[in-house]
Amino acid sequence: PAIRPLIAGNWKMHGTSASLGELEAIGEGFAAAAGDGADGLICVPATLISRASGVLGSTPVSVGGQDCHAAESGAHTGDIAAEMLADCGASHVIVGHSERRTDHRESDADVAAKAQAAWRAGVVAIICLGETRRQREAGETLAVLSRQVAGSVPAEATAENAVIAYEPVWAIGTGLTPTTKDVAEAHAHLRAELEKKIGEEAKRTRLLYGGSVKPANARELLSILNVDGALIGGASLKAADFLGISEAT
Ligand code: G3H
Repeated sequence: PAIRPLIAGNWKMHGTSASLGELEAIGEGFAAAAGDGADGLICVPATLISRASGVLGSTPVSVGGQDCHAAESGAHTGDIAAEMLADCGASHVIVGHSERRTDHRESDADVAAKAQAAWRAGVVAIICLGETRRQREAGETLAVLSRQVAGSVPAEATAENAVIAYEPVWAIGTGLTPTTKDVAEAHAHLRAELEKKIGEEAKRTRLLYGGSVKPANARELLSILNVDGALIGGASLKAADFLGISEAT
């Protein structure tokens, strides 16, 4: 059977109580836009998780966090445990986003530990990976993806507890996207590498594409083989855009 797509938004460091109306519009419009053939998710800043859960609780759209610490508790000022995200109503958490890998120097091992932390808390881990512009230009894309799957995806990953998001770093927030052929090649490679790591589970695990997904390019990107949904940054902030993308499933 086909994999049920996941349309996920990542609000990054955007959103205050003033954004709850937009969230409500996303929740209310999602079923009409995507039908019942896709799952919806918005990963909000940690400060909004509780209220987002209240607003989206009665809708088909789930709430997620954007990062978690590997530990359950402890002397880690400013950090947030996966258990705390779950306690506020988050069902998912993004780990290893390229902005975390760059801004906070997170390694593949850190990302794997965060995925394990998510599972300890009963939260689905959205594990992000993708090559930089320099790596792509050097022809290293597939090797980088192999290394990132090997290092960032724990062997305990299943189709239920993990989602893999391929985000070419150079496509994030730039308006640039890889060609259809390049996305297809990367996702087929990811599926094969994941299979080496977790076996048959890889066939059912959702592989999202992220990087400048907009209503205008969503249909093409989401129709590519092995693309099982999208991770959307900028275009998830406006209900009209997020729902426009959801319509493409
Ligand atoms: O997590 C989302 C990605 O970083 C994509 O961001 O849609 O603004 O390019 P973008």
